[in-house]
Amino acid sequence: MSPRPTPSRLTTRRQFGKQLGLASAAIALSAGSYSRVFGANERLSVASVGTGGKGWSDLLGVAASPAVRVAALCDIDSSKPHLGRAAEKYPEAKQYADWRKLMDESKEIDAVIVSTPDFMHAPVALVAMQQGKHVFCQKPLTHTVYEARQMQLAAKKNNVVTQMGNQIQSHSAYRTAVEMVHSGLIGKVKEVHSWQSGTPAWPRHIERPEGSDPVPSHVNWELWQGVAPERPYKEDLYHPFAWRGWQDYGTGQLGDFGCHILDPVFKSLELTAPTQLVAEAPPLKPETWTDAATVRYVFPGTERTAGETINVTWYDGVGVKPPREVLGDVPASYDLPQAGSVLVGEKGSLVIPHVAMPKLFPEDKYPESEQPKVEAVDHYVQWADACRGADTTTSAFDYSGPLTEAVLLGTIGIRFPGETLQWDSAQLRIANSDAAQKFLSKPYRKGWEPSWV
Ligand SMILES: NC(=O)c1ccc[n+]([C@@H]2O[C@H](COP(=O)([O-])OP(=O)(O)OC[C@H]3O[C@@H](n4cnc5c(N)ncnc54)[C@H](O)[C@@H]3O)[C@@H](O)[C@H]2O)c1
Repeated sequence: MSPRPTPSRLTTRRQFGKQLGLASAAIALSAGSYSRVFGANERLSVASVGTGGKGWSDLLGVAASPAVRVAALCDIDSSKPHLGRAAEKYPEAKQYADWRKLMDESKEIDAVIVSTPDFMHAPVALVAMQQGKHVFCQKPLTHTVYEARQMQLAAKKNNVVTQMGNQIQSHSAYRTAVEMVHSGLIGKVKEVHSWQSGTPAWPRHIERPEGSDPVPSHVNWELWQGVAPERPYKEDLYHPFAWRGWQDYGTGQLGDFGCHILDPVFKSLELTAPTQLVAEAPPLKPETWTDAATVRYVFPGTERTAGETINVTWYDGVGVKPPREVLGDVPASYDLPQAGSVLVGEKGSLVIPHVAMPKLFPEDKYPESEQPKVEAVDHYVQWADACRGADTTTSAFDYSGPLTEAVLLGTIGIRFPGETLQWDSAQLRIANSDAAQKFLSKPYRKGWEPSWV
């Protein structure tokens, strides 16, 4: 494995770029930013990169806006569940296998939906933003912390409208939970416990199997691998969906769910960057993510928290939930949901199931008739409207970037169980571990190096 670059300070971003060998800037295309003013009847031209899996519902969600025209579709897999179905539904849209070609020919495109596996989010989205295009990008925003910071900088520099695909944020359940905290129902929050106890349907804690399988004629494996190190194709191990379990492509259970489950925690408490974190996890296999981890974060306190700092603990693993004794007023008789959070407040405790309406305890203190209920909004149409200047997004990269950074720092912690990592967000530095610092970024395949901001 080639040595990892070490981003040490935000202010030395240029040197960091050089370390990554960006002189070739192979996938940097023309830069430029614009804020187009849309006429009342003018539609937003949208391209979708990754049209199968979640990309299909992302595309339908955005295209639900009558002000959107689906102009281009890109997928490395031409079969029906991937490019095929989208091409049938939007026959007028241009079709691509290679997103770089799409970007080359994309003058008429205003906005791009990025629904590829995690490791390709930043490479695609950064080029789109450098071209002044608005971006909707799936969660977690990126594969590395450094990429997440770059996404924030690129969105700002190019003045584009952004939204991360943590669509549950816009669900009534999560919006209501945030309002319950903001309205002071549970008082200031003393600690938070968040968990995902479900069974992931992707490979965990395994070694890479020997050999290779023939690449199906409908899959472009070279394009799928993109910025990642090359490896032989194996059926059902990577594409589609199963890539989540592999460090080169995905971010494990915390990366997969953290940007959903921790989102109402971030939104309601207005959290910023953690100052430290420590993980408990079995030693990682060389290439896959673990099957259970606990990450204990410390964040600076906010107006919504009881102390100068607040502890937020993440738990994952099949059947793993927080111990009952730390859950404040939540009675032992209450069945905790499979995934969610408990915010322990000075006046009461709030359970935020993933995804169901939040629940306040002690029950007799919070009659239902006195509880707020916030209606859902449309996460996708909100973005499309915002791109046309008619709304603002709630998970723009200046919000979802720091959320993703915190989640991905947790995945770095999982690589170093038992070591307390001190995080200096302003300097983009894990102050007390050079070994951990290296995982803020990663090597990129030659010829595929992104062009940073
Ligand atoms: N917000 C949510 O609730 C939610 C749910 C599921 C997945 N996701 C996210 O959506 C993304 C995709 O996940 P998935 O489960 O749909 O994965 P998937 O592998 O099932 O689907 C990805 C799609 O992108 C295509 N693709 C892969 N690489 C590509 C490339 N370089 N260019 C163009 N197309 C490419 C694949 O062929 C496939 O059609 C991930 O980031 C994941 O975390 C979010």
